[in-house]
Amino acid sequence: MSVADLLSDDAGTPSGRWRPRRGARRGAVADPAPGAGTPAAPGPDTSPVLELRGVARWFPGAEPVHALHAADLSVAAGDYLSIVGPSGSGKSTLLNLLGLLDRPSAGEYLLDGTPTARAPEAVRTALRAGRIGFVFQAFHLLPHRTVLENVLLATLYSGVPRRERRRRATEALERVGLGHRTGFLPPLLSGGERQRVAVARAVVTVPGVLLADEPTGNLDSASTGHVLDLFDELHRDGLTLLVITHDADVAARAGRRVRIADGHLEEIA
Ligand SMILES: Nc1ncnc2c1ncn2[C@@H]1O[C@H](COP(=O)(O)OP(=O)(O)O)[C@@H](O)[C@H]1O
Ligand SMILES: [Mg+2]
Repeated sequence: MSVADLLSDDAGTPSGRWRPRRGARRGAVADPAPGAGTPAAPGPDTSPVLELRGVARWFPGAEPVHALHAADLSVAAGDYLSIVGPSGSGKSTLLNLLGLLDRPSAGEYLLDGTPTARAPEAVRTALRAGRIGFVFQAFHLLPHRTVLENVLLATLYSGVPRRERRRRATEALERVGLGHRTGFLPPLLSGGERQRVAVARAVVTVPGVLLADEPTGNLDSASTGHVLDLFDELHRDGLTLLVITHDADVAARAGRRVRIADGHLEEIA
C-alpha cells in the first residue's frame, strides 16, 4: 500500500462509521463462487496488523533506563488486547512505540507488514495518520472548541470535503451516544462523556487500530462501563484494540491479555 493510499484513507468510504478495511478482518474474504471465471481471491488475511520483533527501548543517560526489553508480539486484525502492569513498568513506552510516536532502540516493528523502525518520518506519519487512533487518560480535548469541532479536527488532513467530514464527525458522535452534545464545550461534559468524544475523534478517520493508554484512569465506574461497552461494540465491528490499564476489570474485557513487568512482556491469556 502506498503512502498516498494511506493519506486518502477514508476517501471512498461511504460513511464515517467505523468499517474494517477490505480483507482486514480474519475470515472476511469470501471464497470465489465456483466456476466464477475470475482469478482466485486471496485467502483470509491472517498476517499480523502489528508485529514487534525483538523491540527494545532504552533511554541513554548517566544511568540508562531499560524501559522495554526485547519484546515479540503479534496482533492480528480484530484482536482485542489488554496490557497490564504497574506504574513504571513500560506500558506507555510500549504504546508510544506501537503508535509510531517513538522509535525502538533495537528490533523491528511492522505495521500492516511495513517495517517502520528505520522508515523515514514521512512514512511513519502517514501510517500513523491512516491506521492508528489514540485515546489517552487525560482526554486531550480542546476546551474552547465544541465537541463537534474537536472531532472534525481529526479529519482535517483527510482530503475529504468539509461537508462530508462534518457528516462523518456527527455520525461518530451519534455512535458514541453524544449526538445531543455536539455544540457543547468539553468542560461542560462529564469525564465519561469527554472520553467518549475522544473515542469518536479516534475512530472518525477509520483507523483500523485503536491504542488506548489508561482510557478509564480518570473515570468513575459507571463511565468506565460506558467506555468499555463502546470498546466492545467497536471490536465487534472489526476494530483492532489495544488497551493499556492497571485495572484488572478493564483488562478482563479483552480477549488477549499481556502483562508487562520491569519492561518484560509476557502474554497471560
Ligand atoms: N524519556 C524518558 N527518559 C528516561 N526514562 C524514561 C523516559 N520515558 C520513560 N522512562 C522510564 O521508563 C520506565 C517506563 O516508563 P513508562 O513506559 O512511562 O511506564 P508506565 O507507563 O508503565 O507507567 C520508567 O522507569 C520511566 O521512568
Ligand atoms: Mg503510563
